[in-house]
Amino acid sequence: MNGNTDEKIELLTGKDFWHSANSAGTESIRFSDGPSGVRLQYGKGDHLGLNGSAPSTCFPSHSALAASWNKKLCEDVGFAIGAEAKRAGVDILLAPDLNIKRSPLCGRNFEYFSEDAFLNGMLGASYANGVQSAGTGACLKHFAANNRERGRMVCDSVVDERTLREIYLTAFEIAVKRANPAAVMTAYNRLNGAYCSESPLISEVLRGEWGFGGITVSDWGGVADRAKACACGLDLEMPFCRLSAGEVKCLLKSGALSESDIDACADRISKAANAERKTVNKEVRADIAKKCAEECVVLLKNEGALPLSQDQTVIIGEYAAKPLMQGGGSSRVNSKNAKALKDVLPFEFSAGYNGAKRNCRLERRALKLCAHAENIIYCMGAEGDFEGYDRSNINMPENQTALLEKLFSLKKRVIVVLFGGCAVDTSWDKNVGALLYAGLSGEGAAEAVADILRGKVNPSGKLAETFPENVQDVPSTKYFNQNPYFTVYGEGMRVGYLSGLKAKYPFGFGLSYTRFEYSGLRISERGVSFTVTNAGGLYGGEAVQLYIEYPESANAPAAFLKGFEKVFLNGGESRRVEILFDEFSFRSYDAQSNRWVCVGGEYKIHIASSSTDIRLSGSLYMDGVRGVCEPRTEDLKPEPYKINRDEKGRVTADIHTPLCELKNACGAFGRLFAKLSLFAVRNKPTVYGSMEYLPMRTLAQFGKMSGKTLDGLLLMFNGKFFKGLFKMLKKDRNNRYD
Ligand code: GLC
Repeated sequence: MNGNTDEKIELLTGKDFWHSANSAGTESIRFSDGPSGVRLQYGKGDHLGLNGSAPSTCFPSHSALAASWNKKLCEDVGFAIGAEAKRAGVDILLAPDLNIKRSPLCGRNFEYFSEDAFLNGMLGASYANGVQSAGTGACLKHFAANNRERGRMVCDSVVDERTLREIYLTAFEIAVKRANPAAVMTAYNRLNGAYCSESPLISEVLRGEWGFGGITVSDWGGVADRAKACACGLDLEMPFCRLSAGEVKCLLKSGALSESDIDACADRISKAANAERKTVNKEVRADIAKKCAEECVVLLKNEGALPLSQDQTVIIGEYAAKPLMQGGGSSRVNSKNAKALKDVLPFEFSAGYNGAKRNCRLERRALKLCAHAENIIYCMGAEGDFEGYDRSNINMPENQTALLEKLFSLKKRVIVVLFGGCAVDTSWDKNVGALLYAGLSGEGAAEAVADILRGKVNPSGKLAETFPENVQDVPSTKYFNQNPYFTVYGEGMRVGYLSGLKAKYPFGFGLSYTRFEYSGLRISERGVSFTVTNAGGLYGGEAVQLYIEYPESANAPAAFLKGFEKVFLNGGESRRVEILFDEFSFRSYDAQSNRWVCVGGEYKIHIASSSTDIRLSGSLYMDGVRGVCEPRTEDLKPEPYKINRDEKGRVTADIHTPLCELKNACGAFGRLFAKLSLFAVRNKPTVYGSMEYLPMRTLAQFGKMSGKTLDGLLLMFNGKFFKGLFKMLKKDRNNRYD
């Protein structure tokens, strides 16, 4: 490629918030979020969805899309978003998100497909293929083990090797191999002590083992040390950071970084910028937002209440008027077409509650409206679906459950429509006639839900995550937010349905207005085939699932999902379904020899309608190694996060010191700066959550501060106020950053 060393170094960090640099004969790359639609910002860029963005279609969040269990649908949605991105001049879309829903407490779970690596990877690969067939690059994120939000920029995810490979990396592996994405975004967090932007996983696994040929891009503000990241193969730091060029030149001069490291990163960026992105000529149906939402809705309970009877019906609940269709943060799109459920159904409406507070006047009004109705459609909404934020529990808001209890006392048919991007406690549902989980299904959700309630559409969604009886039963709960600076994955591979916990609504579960029968299982070396019959009268869709139970010597936690297909059948229709085995079907990771192996023995093959509803079984014998050890989690040790603290606990801040630690800074100015900054955002969960453990280096990354200014500010935080102020104001070019 052209350009001298300085011009190549300029390529290694962004030009501004959303573009890579134009340098060394390379055009800049335009990035944009996100997973449920294009969040294109023309004005001030931000990574939390706070500033405006251009209007675009709001599609179902990944968590809702996953409930479709439909690879083709995910590809169609990816194509539709990719096409909108292409028209908007975006080169690479920052999606799909492939992180595992390790705990229902993670506030960003709405943006992730599933608790299961295989489902995550297959749907993510389909979505990425869709985006790229529209001529826009896809960017898998966040690589890897980014499974909580609190302290995400400093937290160390401490995972044993087998669990890391089988649970947290496999989705990325599947999507890299099946979609050949343009980019992979490294996560904010540390993983086994190293920042993901400086992790050996980039060169050894992502490129070395999986053959990834695209560019690696940091999460926004996710680089701790640009030179070290460059040496580890992190090609592009985003957004622009004034510290970086200086750091890289400094390390190049000292010999700690080689020209070849810089050339390798610059070459890959140049290749990505000049890539020819082919566009498949395909029409996007006008009603895709509604059509895809139909498959994202899961019927969890139905005691004859749905489809709605012809009786008098009313709609209660604020979320029938205020669509809850997406989460908060960088994925948030500016949708102009969302409809409210109360406006697409011909029934009288009453809010019943507003926000999180009880309102007796609203409750009384709602109960009065219900007096002469037989069917009560009650809309509930989970809270806490925010990037940068984690939940402390998975309870539904008390004002909503309190009103539900009052509705039960009317002895009517109560049909709950539940919106939200995460597993929630559903202990309140004992007396509901039906429970329809609508997820965060985008701007088409209301019309989709309305058609399902009226029986025009037969629900076919199935849960892509376990709804536990009690969040304390989830093995990761006791480790989840144990410390802001680390999380030990002490539960190992026991994530979601693999933990064997007693689920209220299990992984893979969803009801239909019809019923499906399974028969005629045949198993061969290539795969399985069986017949599915729609034994009811209504056209419907069924997500059939293949689970493989490994031999005991494989020390696997439970049978793994290893295949699935979505089949649509008319009433009475039967179809032969084939699911082929692949490289992921029988493998186990042997952490002792650091390689994938097949354990020899009998593998039980289950064809199921959900993880707890096995319909057909058989077995297959495989040759292989004697066995692999269970994941060893007892000796996992976190890497401490370095905070310069004196014997009195006073902190001397450096560029890696998080904002909240400045509350104990040596200098009063530092303490005041931290307290005021956090006080100002105390009522904005996603902002507070993102700022609390924000390292000071981000003032240069998001605030475009120069190294000299940052050094001066740190002096002021550390009690050398005037020395720091003078440094900030003085024209001094001899500074390690600039
Ligand atoms: C955010 C997110 C990432 C997003 C990026 C740009 O902090 O973690 O998913 O793509 O910044 O908005």
